[in-house]
Amino acid sequence: VWSTVPQGPPDAILGITEAFKKDSNSEKINLGVGAYRDDKGKPYVLPSVKQAEQKVMQQNLDKEYAGITGVPDFTKAAALLAYGPNSAPLKEGRVAITQSISGTGALRIGGAFLQRFYPGAKAIYIPTPSWANHKAVFLDSGLEVKQYRYYDKSTIGLDFDGMVADIKAMPKGSIILLHACAHNPTGVDPTEEQWKKISDAVKEGEHYPFFDMAYQGFASGDTDKDAFALRYFVEQGHTPCLAQSFAKNMGLYGERVGAFSIVTATKEEKVKVDSQVKILVRPLYSNPPVHGARIASTILNDAELNKQWLGEVKDMAERIIKMRALLKENLEKLGSKRAWNHITDQIGMFAYTGLTAEQMTKLAEEHSVYATKDGRISVAGITSGNVGRLAEAIYKITG
Ligand code: LMR
Repeated sequence: VWSTVPQGPPDAILGITEAFKKDSNSEKINLGVGAYRDDKGKPYVLPSVKQAEQKVMQQNLDKEYAGITGVPDFTKAAALLAYGPNSAPLKEGRVAITQSISGTGALRIGGAFLQRFYPGAKAIYIPTPSWANHKAVFLDSGLEVKQYRYYDKSTIGLDFDGMVADIKAMPKGSIILLHACAHNPTGVDPTEEQWKKISDAVKEGEHYPFFDMAYQGFASGDTDKDAFALRYFVEQGHTPCLAQSFAKNMGLYGERVGAFSIVTATKEEKVKVDSQVKILVRPLYSNPPVHGARIASTILNDAELNKQWLGEVKDMAERIIKMRALLKENLEKLGSKRAWNHITDQIGMFAYTGLTAEQMTKLAEEHSVYATKDGRISVAGITSGNVGRLAEAIYKITG
């Protein structure tokens, strides 16, 4: 029956982990998937997560189904974390929210909701480049995917003028995907002043902003600061939708904890939107898993644990910043003639090295250093133990 099924390519990001696993070199380095590692290169379970999990276990809860939109204590706290305690729509009960299968699931629900209900053209504009999975998520949701300028190769920074020009050139009422912070894969974010101008341009075009916030806390180490763009847009009267992930900032990768929310204009709208989100989710996966959401909810709702967690997010962000500096320093020590300032200028989990696909292949084949072909490296995979070898490998292939 399946003889005509064509062989598909490996996933651009998760396929790297598969290739890494096959390599027998004991010094191999995996800088592919964006997953935090401690300075020994080991996966990291946050102490706050361990404590929250203990608390959840002590409650001896049952394993009944959650409602279609998930664990209410979790979604309420997730919305508060994103929109902030002063958010008018939150206070006025105008935010519809559902738990999701992490950030990807949130994007997928959002894509499907827009496909079904957004009035006007069903096209979403994503930045060039964007997270490798964005295009597939939105295409599978039935949206048309278009792009806007974002990254400038020549400056290894933001193409702000290009971005604003493209936003202005979009047909009125277009849907635009914005990375709320720690842009993946480039690690290049607009400044607060630039966000204000982006908000103006989006408003002028009557466009619809869709925020993807997968790294709240990872950009600056401060969850409020990282929510600036989203909160500013809301203050300016936009009614965006939002995909949230707790994979990175709580290290809950495999627990798949996320949320999708929509700011609506009125309470009545919110009630109707809620009803349709439920109708969308039920045939997709019925209702979300409870364990990870209970952990996240415990952290977000317990003042002491919350404080501890914020400290741990900051620690993770700071270790990454330290590794950026060490990598740059090591490359310079080796005598590299290239400028590596962008490694320390960029923020979040990734560095966009500017290496070509050929160079990335060489890194893997000759040095057992694995990362995505677009030249992105997950700085979270760098340790004080492997940074020297990594710098040498990069130096050897770049000169
Ligand atoms: C990444 O970009 O590496 C992460 O968001 C993990 C993923 O699912 O791709």
